Amino acid sequence: MTTPSQELTFRGGSSEDAAALQRLQSEHETEQGWTVQQWQKELNRSNGSVWLVESVDTNQPVGYLVMWRVADRLEIVDLLVHSRWRRRSVGRALIEMAAAIGRAQQVCRLVLEVRRDNAGARQFYEAVGFEEQGEKPGFYDDGAHALVMARTVETACD
Ligand SMILES: CC(C)(COP(=O)(O)OP(=O)(O)OC[C@H]1O[C@@H](n2cnc3c(N)ncnc32)[C@H](O)[C@@H]1OP(=O)(O)O)[C@@H](O)C(=O)NCCC(=O)NCCS
Repeated sequence: MTTPSQELTFRGGSSEDAAALQRLQSEHETEQGWTVQQWQKELNRSNGSVWLVESVDTNQPVGYLVMWRVADRLEIVDLLVHSRWRRRSVGRALIEMAAAIGRAQQVCRLVLEVRRDNAGARQFYEAVGFEEQGEKPGFYDDGAHALVMARTVETACD
């Protein structure tokens, strides 16, 4: 496994990051992404957090993770790595960071929904320790099915 480059830093996001995150998302997602206002809401959410991976050279985000605390779990709401930085363990580092936060908060598991037709993301989540838990038919606006995947954080939970 390669490790993310030292040209990158990881940090928590704030309101000032909304425009750059909106741009990164809109350049890489085929689906409708969030507006700057929606990003601001995420960046200020009391039960959630946004984490950025930033290029030291450009001070621009090259990846992000959005998660919410819901009951005994952390939900991965969105995760994205800039196409030029993929397959360099950036996504893995973000998931390991989420697991470390989860352990510190004593949550039981990380959970997420992923499009069934997003083969690359499904293989990524399997590679970083997630297992399929079920399916949500027609979950997305275009009728695509979602797979629910989870990774245990605290083995003391059932
Ligand atoms: C999914 C995503 C976040 C992965 O980020 P990444 O930084 O490229 O992932 P990593 O380099 O940490 O990959 C870790 C392992 O996952 C697997 N993996 C990652 N991307 C994969 C792909 N496209 N196809 C197959 N396996 C993949 C590999 O086993 C990889 O290890 P390896 O490179 O040593 O073989 C990135 O491809 C992305 O942003 N995709 C578009 C947005 C998206 O679909 N997000 C998920 C929304 S739920």
